[in-house]
Amino acid sequence: MDAREMKIKAAAVALAHVEDGMRLGIGTGSTAEEFVRLLAEKVAGGLKVEGVPTSERTARLCVELGVPLKSLDELPELDLTIDGADEVDGRLRLIKGGGGALLREKIVASASTRMIVIADESKVVETLGAFKLPIEVNPFGLVSTRIAIEKTAARLGLSGGIALRTSGDGTFMTDGGHYILDASFGRIPDADALASNLNDIPGVVEHGLFINMASLAIIAGPAGARTLTA
Ligand code: A5P
Repeated sequence: MDAREMKIKAAAVALAHVEDGMRLGIGTGSTAEEFVRLLAEKVAGGLKVEGVPTSERTARLCVELGVPLKSLDELPELDLTIDGADEVDGRLRLIKGGGGALLREKIVASASTRMIVIADESKVVETLGAFKLPIEVNPFGLVSTRIAIEKTAARLGLSGGIALRTSGDGTFMTDGGHYILDASFGRIPDADALASNLNDIPGVVEHGLFINMASLAIIAGPAGARTLTA
């Protein structure tokens, strides 16, 4: 199985958890997009679901493929969110936001009874942090917020570069009109402490640590899929 086939495999196993009538949170990224493609085939075959997309990018794909969408305000409580991840540890803690959709992804996952993560084996880590941690910040006070993040990290024994995410010639802008700082902390021994400390910084809108959110991860490898549970 190549990388794409593994993503499709994980998405296919997740699709078996989708039941008629469900209100679904639909994630962002290349793995979530494989899920959207498989879901669209089921919808074309008669499956009735309504989806809330976690990004404009996912919304566009759903519209193109005929997956019925609602806003989160129209469907404020969801049955299941299926989304990818940049890293997954053994306790189902995640780093997300490589695609820049972490804020809406976290809001949608929080509004869902269950969150299932779909990923290939390359995303599974013993300790989170090899992937740069995306931190979504308000553009106002960017420098102050970056300094506050550095000081918070230092108190927790973490250091490393913090880079403003760019896109083309300019600064990357999220769907919510915010910037992203990508923090190269390396190994994060206490992800729970970092998550709650980052939440205390006023300019931080959200960060990519997803703690106690996923209840199941479907991990696809060359030999097939396995599951991790919280
Ligand atoms: C989007 O902001 C991210 O959280 C994605 O879920 C994550 O980057 C996984 O993307 P891939 O499935 O493309 O690796």
